[in-house]
Amino acid sequence: MARGGKRNVERMYRHLPTAVFAVLLAALAALPGWSDTLIGDPVAGANDPILGSKHDFTGLNRRAGVFAMPGVAFSDYGNPCVYCHLPPEKAEVDETKEGAIPDWNRFYPATDAYRLYDSTYMDSKTRTPSPISLLCLSCHDGTMGVDMVVFPPTDFDSAQDEALHMRIHGADDVVSCGKCHNGRVAHDISIKHIGTDLRNDHPISMRYAGLLRADEDFRLPDTPEGFNNGVRLYEGRVECASCHNVHNPEKDLLLRADSDLLCQTCHTK
Ligand code: HEC
Ligand code: HEC
Ligand code: HEC
Ligand code: HEC
Ligand code: HEC
Repeated sequence: MARGGKRNVERMYRHLPTAVFAVLLAALAALPGWSDTLIGDPVAGANDPILGSKHDFTGLNRRAGVFAMPGVAFSDYGNPCVYCHLPPEKAEVDETKEGAIPDWNRFYPATDAYRLYDSTYMDSKTRTPSPISLLCLSCHDGTMGVDMVVFPPTDFDSAQDEALHMRIHGADDVVSCGKCHNGRVAHDISIKHIGTDLRNDHPISMRYAGLLRADEDFRLPDTPEGFNNGVRLYEGRVECASCHNVHNPEKDLLLRADSDLLCQTCHTK
């Protein structure tokens, strides 16, 4: 699998003297959970369990058994991975220059629109969501089309691009999936719409309070990457993907642990 992460970092720090850069790169690479840019290569991912799941946007119409969606709901790019990952031919670009979330093929949401979880009881403040959570929010906050990627695959014929880019939103209008997904024509999509007000959701993008046994209400993770049952930390933080794994549809709602065990993976009470 092609991986462009190291090169991306090199580009970011190219103005720094080489020695400083080498130290920085080593430090970055040593960070727990620091990841390379993952490239959405459909050949390498031919057997990926994401295929046929809710996040496979190329097969949806066939699976749903309806042809209501083509031409209306979203552009079919042929490559199921590029709705999130950079296409392989864009592995070397500086995606952030084109307005992308670092490492992902999605536009950077308007982060000042988010209302973040806050509580005086928290050890660690939530802040602007991290890139890996912005990825999820770029669809689930309902502000951008599901097919609004920064780089469509190069072999995609732009004449096939849809004029309307529909969003995960329950509204009855031509830019919202809710046009059909209202519980009558098709299943209700509004429950998948998290919105930009995150105060009623589990806090994200804060440092995990159980690191270094900082807080006895939280368990010590098994490794810097998280817990042996699959619940993950990203650079020591809790993110959407700590609890959900879009690549593993085995459990309901793509959860990483059975829902009765999920919370106590981290919380001791
Ligand atoms: C809905 C968004 C989305 C789509 C579509 C998607 N991915 Fe991912 N992918 C992710 C996220 C998020 C992660 C990070 C998950 C993690 O850290 O466990 C990831 C991780 C990966 C990884 C690293 C897995 C690991 O365990 O380190 C590979 C490889 C990958 N994706 C390839 C693909 C391929 C190939 C496709 C298409 C068949 C694809 N992805 C489609 C979001 C997506
Ligand atoms: C990956 C670890 C993790 C998992 C899994 C997890 N939490 Fe949390 N949770 C945290 C952290 C960290 C905080 C913030 C605590 C702090 O900084 O004081 C938190 C905060 C909370 C808060 C807010 C508390 C406050 O002080 O305002 C609630 C409520 C909560 N979690 C409920 C849940 C529930 C319910 C589940 C299961 C669905 C769950 N958590 C799963 C790590 C986790
Ligand atoms: C490219 C757009 C897109 C991105 C990016 C995306 N999702 Fe989704 N997600 C969807 C759509 C569309 C659905 C299906 C909605 C429906 O069933 O009505 C969905 C469904 C889900 C579901 C419900 C699954 C079920 O079985 O009903 C969860 C949970 C979820 N997404 C979490 C995530 C997380 C976590 C991320 C980030 C790692 C993410 N999504 C990134 C578009 C996206
Ligand atoms: C013109 C009507 C229409 C529009 C617009 C539409 N859908 Fe659908 N969709 C359907 C119908 C009908 C079904 C099949 C019945 C069902 O699953 O509820 C369906 C099924 C689905 C499924 C289930 C597929 C499966 O295999 O489980 C998902 C996910 C989905 N649509 C997502 C979306 C998203 C995301 C949008 C907006 C970007 C959208 N749809 C827009 C009509 C539509
Ligand atoms: C602490 C664990 C945790 C975190 C963090 C988390 N979720 Fe969830 N999520 C859950 C659980 C548990 C459910 C199912 C129960 C519920 O709806 O509250 C769920 C439900 C969902 C659903 C499906 C709603 C439905 O019923 O179909 C979506 C979509 C979703 N989450 C997306 C996200 C996104 C996007 C983020 C980050 C902004 C996120 N989640 C962060 C645990 C989490």
